[in-house]
Amino acid sequence: MYKASSATRIIGNNLVYLESVGSTNSWASEFSKTEKIKDGMVFITDHQTAGRGQMGNSWITEPKTNLTFSIVLLDPVTVQEQFYLTVFVTLALGDLLNSILSQVQIKWPNDILVNQKKIAGILIENQVRGSKVTASVIGIGLNVNQQLFGIDHATSIRKESGQMQSLSDTLGQLLSCLDERYFQLRNGMKNLLRDEWHNVLYLKGLPHVYRSNGRSFEGVITGVDDDGRLAVETDEGQRIFGFKEISY
Ligand code: BTN
Repeated sequence: MYKASSATRIIGNNLVYLESVGSTNSWASEFSKTEKIKDGMVFITDHQTAGRGQMGNSWITEPKTNLTFSIVLLDPVTVQEQFYLTVFVTLALGDLLNSILSQVQIKWPNDILVNQKKIAGILIENQVRGSKVTASVIGIGLNVNQQLFGIDHATSIRKESGQMQSLSDTLGQLLSCLDERYFQLRNGMKNLLRDEWHNVLYLKGLPHVYRSNGRSFEGVITGVDDDGRLAVETDEGQRIFGFKEISY
């Protein structure tokens, strides 16, 4: 049902369909160590039984209803530029979603929100040697047709648009968006990517209450630095937070 893309430069030219698998990220990571791996290869399943999310959480999704897949990129960036993988992937998801819906935002560091509800999550796992990311496994879970979630702050394209979507068409469009944004990254357009990312950053410029180290405080997000750390202006001046150091 899913097709490899002939129109993209790298991402999606090769596609492996797995009827059911524990985690596409784990599968892709193992496969990336074999000779058969190709740059931009996509591993997709209709039934992920042990999906993994950020911070050791699990990613649970209805079979045959949403998109769950992983992409392997070979030699994509240097270790210093790692954050730009998150930037290009989240922007590409934004490009796809903006063509169907409005109110798409990125919640630092890597959640995609529509109307303040999470519609997609990404899990990027890098293999590093020296100063190089030798392979990156980019896992994407996009809620497409699921209508019921056990939690309030989750949504899907169908819930927001009222329309059932074709999974294979949605995948095709998303692969094109990813390929285009990856092309920009590979062609020295980091500044453009970072500026566009700042424009869709959830809560940027708005006062909000944050939590860090068990303490709540008010602040305003001003942006992220090149390492992807979040800058928040507070009463005590600017504070910089790494992953897991702040919640909101
Ligand atoms: C998050 O916690 O927001 C990240 C969720 C990432 C889920 C995707 S689904 C495809 C890929 N395989 C996994 O095991 N996880 C990612």
